[in-house]
Parts: sequence; structure tokens; C-alpha cells
Amino acid sequence: MPVRQLSEAMINRIAAGEVVERPASVVKELVENALDAGARRIDVLTDGGGRRLIRVSDDGEGMTRADLELAVERHATSKLQTDDLLSIHTLGFRGEALPSIGAAGRLTVTTRHAGEPHAWSITVDAGEKSAVKPAALGQGTAVEVRDLFYATPARLKFLKADRSEAEAVRDVVRRLAMSRPDVSFTLAGEERSPVTWASVEGNRLGRLGEVLGSDFRANAIAIEARREGVQVAGFAGLPTLSRANSLGQYLFVNGRPVRDKLLFGAVRAAYADYLPRDRHPLLALFVTLDPREVDVNVHPAKSEVRFRDAGLVRGLIVHALKDALARDGQRAATTGGTATISTFRPAATPRRGGYDWRRSPARPAALAPIPGAIAASFAEIAQAAFDVGEPAADAAVASFEPAADQIDRPLGAARAQVHETYIVAQTRDGLVIVDQHAAHERIVYERMKSAIEKSGIARQILLIPEIVELDEADVTRLTARADELMRFGLVIETFGPGAVAVRETPSILGEVDVRGLLRDLADHIAEWDDSLPLERRLMHVSATMACYGSVRAGRRLKPEEMNALLRDMEAVPNSGQCNHGRPTYVELKLADIERLFGRR
Ligand SMILES: Nc1ncnc2c1ncn2[C@@H]1O[C@H](COP(=O)(O)OP(=O)(O)OP(=O)(O)O)[C@@H](O)[C@H]1O
Ligand SMILES: [Mg+2]
Repeated sequence: MPVRQLSEAMINRIAAGEVVERPASVVKELVENALDAGARRIDVLTDGGGRRLIRVSDDGEGMTRADLELAVERHATSKLQTDDLLSIHTLGFRGEALPSIGAAGRLTVTTRHAGEPHAWSITVDAGEKSAVKPAALGQGTAVEVRDLFYATPARLKFLKADRSEAEAVRDVVRRLAMSRPDVSFTLAGEERSPVTWASVEGNRLGRLGEVLGSDFRANAIAIEARREGVQVAGFAGLPTLSRANSLGQYLFVNGRPVRDKLLFGAVRAAYADYLPRDRHPLLALFVTLDPREVDVNVHPAKSEVRFRDAGLVRGLIVHALKDALARDGQRAATTGGTATISTFRPAATPRRGGYDWRRSPARPAALAPIPGAIAASFAEIAQAAFDVGEPAADAAVASFEPAADQIDRPLGAARAQVHETYIVAQTRDGLVIVDQHAAHERIVYERMKSAIEKSGIARQILLIPEIVELDEADVTRLTARADELMRFGLVIETFGPGAVAVRETPSILGEVDVRGLLRDLADHIAEWDDSLPLERRLMHVSATMACYGSVRAGRRLKPEEMNALLRDMEAVPNSGQCNHGRPTYVELKLADIERLFGRR
């Protein structure tokens, strides 16, 4: 086939596909242009998830007639005045956004520059440029995009439901609003109740609180560190404010919102001592450095960056977060103990029998601080339970007389609860330590799964429906899945724009922290799409439910409750591992213990 030069229109369409992927990318480009133009106030309006209409107006410096005419051409920009691609101080620099948008839909730019007698307007419809016409506008620039992607139907096919697109738009505006508390933003449209973030010059936490919620404001610690010209500042949520996904991590480099693996990795490393792997902190971090030290021109949507000295930036973030957490955050009570456990590990024997008991590598944190207490609790069965008096805050032990009839069961009789997290049980020939939360989570999952296969999950009606206030996007997500949640035993309905009424909860959960449950469920649902199999969804739901049911970690259990959990574990298949594949219990035979103490 002969080689042929593509037409200008074709070239523009291909470029458009890279720059504008979905309505949210258009909104991002237009808001960034407004910020670059020095706007103090930016109004965003969308309709049909941005597919039908996007309008972004600003009060920035505007464009002259001549600039307007050039601005919609490819590679035309006012932002690169030298040929130094390494020294970029603006959000835009390629001169690609407006022509790309004009190639994909119907673009109208109306603008008023102080040096012009009146405003001017230009239209680009599927790449067809109109003449510049006089127009009416008091100040700044208003950009309107209608019927996005009508000229590139292939792209149109990849769009999600209007609701999802509207949510992506909201996310983009939120990110930019976080980076610029000195600018007022409004976001309106048919698909949402209007949001206004008034300018709060100099008050970063104020703006973050408005965008991320008052919980964040109350539970955030200030981050500030500087090394070799790189500064990291911002606010990080306490570990207790963790979420089920990493969508609550907002990172900015020189004011530009980015999704950078290096930065995410640094955050994970910093919180590793405080959060389990499946929980993620909420935070907003702002990295500021000499523009020459970072390449922003590595991704078509500019959402990734490359640092010249990545190690320095990563190290600084980890250090800044760890420092702040150690200073202000609650230290996790669990540290070290690895040496003791490596002695345990080879000795632990897997249980044989009817269920799927896995060989269980012990989890070090549980044991190290309290060997004396455990040893004491494992006296002969007839002996009175060891009384440890008032539990100390860091090593709480509640122990009691074992029920004699339970001692011959595979998981034995509960003798103590330590750290309000682990159940210590005595068997005929050894001891068992159960992670009550992990075990409960597994039981809930297995029970729900078999209930769904049979008669459905039993629900209990709440005497008074519980009203839970949530973020509007969370409400939308949850109510859109109300039917599915009902199958999982949770009956909810909308209650005004920012709240959900919970009417029924799954009976197996007992008492539920409904608010926490809904918030985390909304986090999970944000990541679902229709290809996710039912089993995975159920896993999310049951794991989340177990977190907010009555047996969760950190709750003191009654002896009967502990024994009931042990008996449940014996009855439920696969309960030797939690939903994340970790063991739910560790067993030590007396022989193992004797070996530990050098008696054998
Ligand atoms: N809201 C606005 N107010 C004033 N001038 C604007 C506005 N939007 C665009 N412009 C002008 O139009 C030019 C082209 O905008 P466009 O977004 O296409 O490219 P850019 O911002 O320079 O680079 P990038 O493609 O990286 O966004 C800008 O350089 C700027 O001079
Ligand atoms: Mg731009």
C-alpha cells in the first residue's frame, strides 16, 4: 500500500484522542487554562455527564482577537516563550488542548481582553474553524463544548454511563480546587446539586476540609519537610481515618494533580507500620521543587511526571509522613517480636481433619509483648483462671475459666482475649491463637455465600431506620446498587441528596456500625464494574461488613462469644484462612511449646 500524508483534520482527531479521553479530561484542560490565565473564580457546568455540554467560565485575563484566532490552532501556545521545555511554570504548555477539543466536538470560545473594545468569539466544529465574531462578555473567558466526541464516534463508544462521567468530572474539579484554595470554584449541572468552594486564601486545610469532608479536617496532621530544594507539605489523615481503596490519596507536583506510582509507593511505605495492606490513608500532599527537576511532559494527559532525583523525593515523602505519624498519630501497639516467632514457625503443625486448615505461619505482633500472660493462662484445666487485674492499655488481657466441655473440640476452649483482637484457646494438647477479626470476616463471607445460593441472606429490620450522611457521590453509588445490596442483606434508600436511610441489616452481623459500613462499601463500589464476578463483590461486601459487625478487632468479647466464634470456625468451610489468604489462627502443640523452652 502506498504511504500517504494524513489530512490536517485526521491528524487533529488522532491527537484529540490522546489529549481528551473523556469529558473529565476536557474539564481538566479548560480549568487549567483558566488557572493559567490568572482566574480568581472558575465556574464549571456540565450536562449529560459532560457529553451534551461542558461550560467553563473564568474571570482571568482573556485573549485578544488575534490570540483567540491562533489559540485554537495546533501547537499554538502563549505559555512557552523560550524553547526551554524544562522550565515550565504553567499547567499548560503544548498548545494542544483547544484544537483537540475542537476536533472532537463543537467548541465555542468567547473571551474579553482588557485591550479590546468588546469580547470576541470563535467556533470550531469537528475541526471546522469559523470566523472570529464580536460577542458580549464582561470579563475573562467562557468556553463551551457541546456534543463531545460526536465527530469521533469510536471514542464515544468507550464512555461510561453519564453518572460515571459526571463523577469523573467532579473528581477533576475537586483535585484542582484542592491545589488552589485561593481561587473560588463552582460546579453545577443537571446531574448534581451545585457545589461552591469560596476562596480561602492561605488556608489549605480549610479548602481540603471542604472538599474531603469535615472528618478529614478533624483527623489530619500537618506535613512539612524540606531537603535539597524539594519541599513536601500538606495534610495526612490519621491511620484511623483509613479507607478501603487508594482513591483518597491526592498528590500534587508544583500545583499539578498527578497520579504517580512513586508517590503512591512512598505513601504505602510510610503507613506500613500503621495500616494493614488493604487499608489506605486519606491525604493530600503537595510537592514543590524547581521545575527543572521534574519532567511534566511524559504523559498525554500530564497526569504523570518524572523526577530527576526520584529517590530524593520518595525519601522525603516517606520521612515527612513517618515523622508526622510518629509525632501525632497513634502508634500501632504492635511492633517487633520477629525473633520469637521465627522460633515458633518451624514448630507449628497443620491441623488435619475435615476442614481446610492451612499450615499457619504465626503473625508476630500478637505474641511478643505478653509471653508471661499467655503462659500463665495455660495452666491445667482445673486450675483457676489467671487474674491479670486491670488490663494495661498496650497489653490488655481478659482471661477466665475454660468451659470443660469445649476443651476436646478442634479449636479448644477460649481462655483469654488479648489486645481485644486475639482469642487464646486451650486444646487437649496445645494452644490456639485466633485472629478474631480475620476469622469472623471469613465466616461472614462463607455464610453469606451459602445463604445466597440457598434461600437468601436473613435480614433484621432496624427499629428506627438509621440515617447516614455521606458524600453525594457515595450516596449515588450506593443507591445505584441498592438491589444488589439487598441481596447481600442490606436494605437502603435515598434520604435527601446527601444521606441514605438504612432499614435492614444482615442478621449474622449482630450490631453494626452502619455509618462506617456504608462509607467503606461506597469505596469498594467505586471500583466495581459490571465485569466483576459476583463472588468478588460478595467478598468485598462481606469483608467490609465483617469490619463493622460486632466481632471486629478491638472489641472485647464475652467468653460465650469467643467460644461461639471458635465453634463457628469449626463448622464453616475454609475458615482457616481469611479473605485475603492469611491464616485466621495459629496452633502450638504442647510439644512445640516445650521445644521453645528447651524442654525437649
Ligand atoms: N481561559 C483562557 N483564558 C485566557 N487564555 C486562554 C484560555 N484558554 C486558552 N487560552 C490561550 O489559548 C492558548 C491555547 O490553549 P491550549 O489549552 O490549547 O494550550 P496550552 O494551555 O497553551 O497548552 P496545553 O495543550 O498543554 O493545555 C493558551 O496558551 C492561552 O494563551
Ligand atoms: Mg491548556
